[in-house]
Amino acid sequence: MKIDPRPSVIEERLKNVKRIIAVTGWKGGIGKSVTACSLALLLAKKGYRTGLFDLDFAGASDHIILGSKNIFPGEKKGLEPPVLAGVKFMSVVFFSENKAVPLRGANVSDAIIELLAITQWGELDFLVLDMPPGINDAALDVMRFARRAEVLAVTTPSVIARSVLDRSLLLYRSLKAPVLGVVVNMARGAASKGSSARLRLDPGLEAALGRPAALLKTAFCRDLSGALEILKLK
Ligand SMILES: Nc1ncnc2c1ncn2[C@@H]1O[C@H](COP(=O)(O)OP(=O)(O)OP(=O)(O)O)[C@@H](O)[C@H]1O
Ligand SMILES: [Mg+2]
Repeated sequence: MKIDPRPSVIEERLKNVKRIIAVTGWKGGIGKSVTACSLALLLAKKGYRTGLFDLDFAGASDHIILGSKNIFPGEKKGLEPPVLAGVKFMSVVFFSENKAVPLRGANVSDAIIELLAITQWGELDFLVLDMPPGINDAALDVMRFARRAEVLAVTTPSVIARSVLDRSLLLYRSLKAPVLGVVVNMARGAASKGSSARLRLDPGLEAALGRPAALLKTAFCRDLSGALEILKLK
């Protein structure tokens, strides 16, 4: 029987991370990445030791949202994430040099698992995972290997996105992954209720991308900040 040592290596690597938050949502382009980046920035600003890991091989975008330039992980018994705006940041883009990565499903899974196994996060209060759209091998592997991950599901008010959301929640329930709450992004009003956070469509968001300090001042970030309590992230 072949024994895979990676689950125990990943567990060891993540043992000093108090909470792992997987920002997911099966539809594309609904704001998972801006939510993940903004959440990491907000938590770091509140003084929490925070990490952010962009796991989207095909569409890595957190480096654009955070404006990362000329930074690269250091190497010391594994990879040490560089720190950006107070957040320890790791991205698949560090290894793809902004080129398209022509990997097939199993190889994407392997690469993600490898990165989870070799990244030295050290002591963190929160590790935010920016998940790729859809549910594929890679996404399932992350949930399998980062067993403690709590799901923050992003959707939009559209009936289409909500029906996809409902299906995703059924799967997370069957995987026994705790669902922290739902972010309804690009909403008309920002009155959050229950465990559902509503983030307004913010015409000022685009101009703030690439500048963490400006991003933190957007209405989008203010809405997210106001919803941290109901999402049990405080
Ligand atoms: N509330 C909002 N107001 C204005 N623009 C927004 C809002 N949310 C997201 N956007 C914009 O929508 C675009 C898509 O956002 P983002 O990349 O975060 O989505 P995603 O779900 O991560 O996409 P993908 O599925 O490709 O990973 C970005 O240009 C982002 O700035
Ligand atoms: Mg994204």
